Amino acid sequence: MRKNVNVFDYAGTICKAMKKGVLLTTKLGDAVNTMTIGWGMLGIEWGKPIFIALVRESRYTKEYLDATGEFTVNVPVSDIDSKILSVCGTKSGREVDKIRALNLDLVESEVISVPGILQLPLTLECKVMYRQTQDPSEIPASAIERYYPKVNTQLASGEERDLHTAYYAEIVNAYLVD
Ligand SMILES: Cc1cc2nc3c(=O)[nH]c(=O)nc-3n(C[C@H](O)[C@H](O)[C@H](O)COP(=O)(O)O)c2cc1C
Repeated sequence: MRKNVNVFDYAGTICKAMKKGVLLTTKLGDAVNTMTIGWGMLGIEWGKPIFIALVRESRYTKEYLDATGEFTVNVPVSDIDSKILSVCGTKSGREVDKIRALNLDLVESEVISVPGILQLPLTLECKVMYRQTQDPSEIPASAIERYYPKVNTQLASGEERDLHTAYYAEIVNAYLVD
């Protein structure tokens, strides 16, 4: 069952959930990958509802996102198994099929080709409209020191030094599943 919602009625739920993490899922061919995100924004640009995700250069997710321009965001609305966010936030899809390892149930989307995840029932279907790798010369020195101690986009996956790319995506559909 799906219940369509106005995403802005869930703005508080989405933004508060980000403290523990929500899932950003991508699909390339038949392969589905998901990762935990803790940074993101909800708002309006170009007259459209927008979710902005911030994805480091080294994430496997970035390869899928750049190839397809589509993702889902899944948000818990009550307590979930904390293993889901910790595994999806520490293991890369390059090494592990996280969906299978965690027995996550995929739910086909209505508008885009990337599925949502049943265990985190609030689903946003998102289509990338604009992307921008963040410019280190515009980032405050304190944030550079904390988040990008040696800014270098060439580092291997797993090293927490590469820059974020901001993906501005239109939220083309939003619903709760059960
Ligand atoms: C709570 C939490 C929040 C996170 N937030 C982000 C984020 O906003 N952006 C990001 O690039 N990585 C974030 N990460 C790290 C990725 O989830 C992690 O590197 C993941 O293994 C990447 O998976 P992938 O290589 O399959 O894309 C977060 C991790 C955790 C545990």
